[in-house]
Amino acid sequence: MKSLSTIVLVTAHIAALAAAQISSVSTTYNTDISSYNFDDSKFNYCQANYPSSSTYTSVANTTLEFVQLIVRHGDRTPALVVPGQDVTWNCDKYSENIYLKSSTASSVSSSALVNQKVEIPAWNGKYGYSNQLWKGTCSVGELTDTGKAQLETLGAQLRSVYVDKLNFLPYWLNKTNQVYVRTTDFWRTKSSAESLLGGIWPYRGITAEMAIPMYTYPAEIETMDANNDACPATDRTWYNIISTSSYQTFFQGQSTLMSKLSGILNVSGPEWSMVWDGYADTLFTRKCNNKGLPCNAAGTVCATADDEDQVKRNANFDWAYKYRDHPLAKTYTRLHIGSFIGTLRDQLQNFVTGNTGILKLALYSGHDTTIGPILGSLKAGNRQMLRPSYASNLIFELWKKKDRSRVVRVLYDGEVLKLQEGNQWCDLSACPLDTFTNYLQDYVPSNIATECS
Ligand SMILES: *[C@@H]1O[C@H](CO)[C@@H](O)[C@H](O)[C@H]1NC(C)=O
Ligand SMILES: *[C@@H]1O[C@H](CO)[C@@H](O)[C@H](O)[C@H]1NC(C)=O
Ligand SMILES: *[C@@H]1O[C@H](CO)[C@@H](O)[C@H](O)[C@H]1NC(C)=O
Repeated sequence: MKSLSTIVLVTAHIAALAAAQISSVSTTYNTDISSYNFDDSKFNYCQANYPSSSTYTSVANTTLEFVQLIVRHGDRTPALVVPGQDVTWNCDKYSENIYLKSSTASSVSSSALVNQKVEIPAWNGKYGYSNQLWKGTCSVGELTDTGKAQLETLGAQLRSVYVDKLNFLPYWLNKTNQVYVRTTDFWRTKSSAESLLGGIWPYRGITAEMAIPMYTYPAEIETMDANNDACPATDRTWYNIISTSSYQTFFQGQSTLMSKLSGILNVSGPEWSMVWDGYADTLFTRKCNNKGLPCNAAGTVCATADDEDQVKRNANFDWAYKYRDHPLAKTYTRLHIGSFIGTLRDQLQNFVTGNTGILKLALYSGHDTTIGPILGSLKAGNRQMLRPSYASNLIFELWKKKDRSRVVRVLYDGEVLKLQEGNQWCDLSACPLDTFTNYLQDYVPSNIATECS
């Protein structure tokens, strides 16, 4: 364990955390990134695989009763702005609608009174907030046209499975109480939910009565992502994780690359010196939209494809480490996503006890930071622990056997979720409901107020 003073990247954020008393943690966990078997050869960050009716099969001798679907939003613009980037982001192929409609069903006339538009004025880059933002019609962290199309395609694939193949979801959604939709309070996740539903039920008119309620929690009580304001222990635990000597060995071993990239992008501050997320954000969003690799302002130094690959590995390593592998990962994921895991568990149990009415599909539209910690909690395999791609889809299916007992099947990006070697706590192609909910129980805070303070 390195003492705090030897950690090079001390920032105000870190100082505040340090003041909040950091306990020392020792671990023998091997963090040698070169020996870490990620198998990212087929990893496509830009787009997840979708379930497919050609490979989808039912669980033998059972009936599907209920589906929980947790998705990551689609392709988006960068969430962290790097001033002075020579890129343009346009987001105006599909219009946003207040009421559900398929993004490609242009013949459907919208009854929406307003159409939300983003304007980036011409003086951007000249004066005022000089050079803060790119050119184009996209906001920061906004779902792109590609992103909308991805979620609509995912919806169409789900329709081919759950409507056409299984006859489980209705052909028309005439009763909106068969569906529950919740999203985080971000434009991109709401837009993703809208596009996805438009893919599942493309033939809907646009009237207030037909509109599917889309629920959001106010940010103050959000549970579908880390909520550091409500639960300061989340950030503190993360800091304890990255303070371990093994993590610092990994992190400092990558400092040359980080310095090179921060120099190219001309950025500084904790989000650029303590974590790889900012670099992943900048490089991945460019790559997924064919915008090339960034160079410094003088054009003398550019990021290379190898740099990008290494950022990908670092980001993936960092993710598996904090959400699954570190001895504190369980505490961390409990604080980060445990309340939401509790919601999913309760909804499954309430379905069986008959408290959920005629609900068939519960859709949760969130982020990589919604799905990642759930995968970590489930002890997903190395390949499945890679950062969730755009439009990643995690599905909990509840199936009823003839003897009325239930099993849960977990599908991730169209396949049964594989578990980590040595951690086969259940067969997720048909896990007994009790085994499943008992396992989740460990990840649900029993007293959130105490654990979070
Ligand atoms: C399904 O049920 C049939 C008939 O009851 C039985 O022959 C078959 O082995 C069962 N399949 C599985 C996978 O349990
Ligand atoms: C459901 O709505 C569709 C489209 O409006 C309509 O054609 C169909 O008859 C309705 N079905 C029922 C059972 O009401
Ligand atoms: C780097 O950023 C600083 C502001 O943080 C700015 O003053 C400086 O001009 C930038 N350098 C280049 C080469 O763009």
